[in-house]
Amino acid sequence: MTTDHDPQTTAIRAGRMHNDTALAPVLWASSTFVAGGVEEAQRLATDLTAPKFYGRHSNPTVADFQNAMADLEGAEDSRAFASGMGAVSAVILGLCSSGDHIVAQTQLYSHTQLLFQSVCPRFGIDVTFVDGTDPDAWEAAVVPGRTVLCFAETPANPKLALVDLERFGAIKGPMTVVDGTFAPPLIQRPLEYGVDLVIHSATKAIAGHNDAMLGVVSGSEELLAWIRGFAILHGAVASPFDALNGIRGIRTLAVRLRQQSETACALAEMLESHPGVARVFHPGLRSHPQFDLAERQMALPGGLVTFDLVAGRAAGRHLVDSVELAQLATSLGGPETLLTHPASTTHVGLLPEELDAAGIGEGTVRMSCGLEHVDDLERDLRRALDSFA
Ligand SMILES: Cc1ncc(COP(=O)(O)O)c(C=O)c1O
Repeated sequence: MTTDHDPQTTAIRAGRMHNDTALAPVLWASSTFVAGGVEEAQRLATDLTAPKFYGRHSNPTVADFQNAMADLEGAEDSRAFASGMGAVSAVILGLCSSGDHIVAQTQLYSHTQLLFQSVCPRFGIDVTFVDGTDPDAWEAAVVPGRTVLCFAETPANPKLALVDLERFGAIKGPMTVVDGTFAPPLIQRPLEYGVDLVIHSATKAIAGHNDAMLGVVSGSEELLAWIRGFAILHGAVASPFDALNGIRGIRTLAVRLRQQSETACALAEMLESHPGVARVFHPGLRSHPQFDLAERQMALPGGLVTFDLVAGRAAGRHLVDSVELAQLATSLGGPETLLTHPASTTHVGLLPEELDAAGIGEGTVRMSCGLEHVDDLERDLRRALDSFA
């Protein structure tokens, strides 16, 4: 359903191609489909987009989620995966070959970084890491004729550093890929800046209720045809049930993102004024080093807030243990407010110098604001902060 509507309106009705007269998204739980004869079976087997052939190729509910995502991104096509990492790894391994070169940023989700550092070299793919906040560094690292892909994440996990999408999308030569997990399409649409592919861990805000593992890649038909061909061999297919939850999440994405952004702004300001907090990172704060860029390329600042505690590791671990309303869990973008201590969890596999490069300290805490009342969250956070002696 391509329309002239605002994406918020598109989101309400997108992803219903296989619905017949049902208003709500329909779950097609079948792993395979009966062909009406050998001619049809042959046609379905060779059309990799056919939604009713075999579940590893596609599925009507998964296809509906993909269509909804393509509509929201302004993309020609999308492909869903079993997780965000399924999408990231299929893009890298589906599009790069031995002898190729990738430019990626140092500020990355830790497992994406591990993929670049430990898997890519095994396949003869070289990766150069650059400071993603420096637009000149991207271009300087491109090796003409060898660099096939530039991989950005914006805002980046966990310090919410931004990549200038206009400059990134204008890089000539390699394909440009953005992991936009922290800023779903109602906040930011990288394809509008000339970026070739946008990836989301839809496990997060898009499905939005902490009940699905789901990834998605969107872009041109041509690139998606390559990715789809590889994805069928890769096998990290999205489950129809998770895709259903993806369509369910898309319908309320706009209101959830607005509420979470509002709460994050209020809590970020409270944290900035607390003596136990050394530094707060949130794209909506004037103190964010890229505040102007956030205003230009993000419709909302988003629900993530990251902060460094003055008293370091002990304070970080104490805080995540002593909140009562916010919960200690690894994920983001859902209805529940979640805290993580990256140095102990999401980034525990990184060496000290890698943590430094990613700007993660021992006292860094990441908060994903949920949908609880902001006053309750503020009280909870303040009490936990005040309790550290
Ligand atoms: C920016 C980013 N990309 C990718 C992923 C991987 O997503 P998933 O956990 O759905 O595999 C995450 C997970 O936290 C993430 O934060």
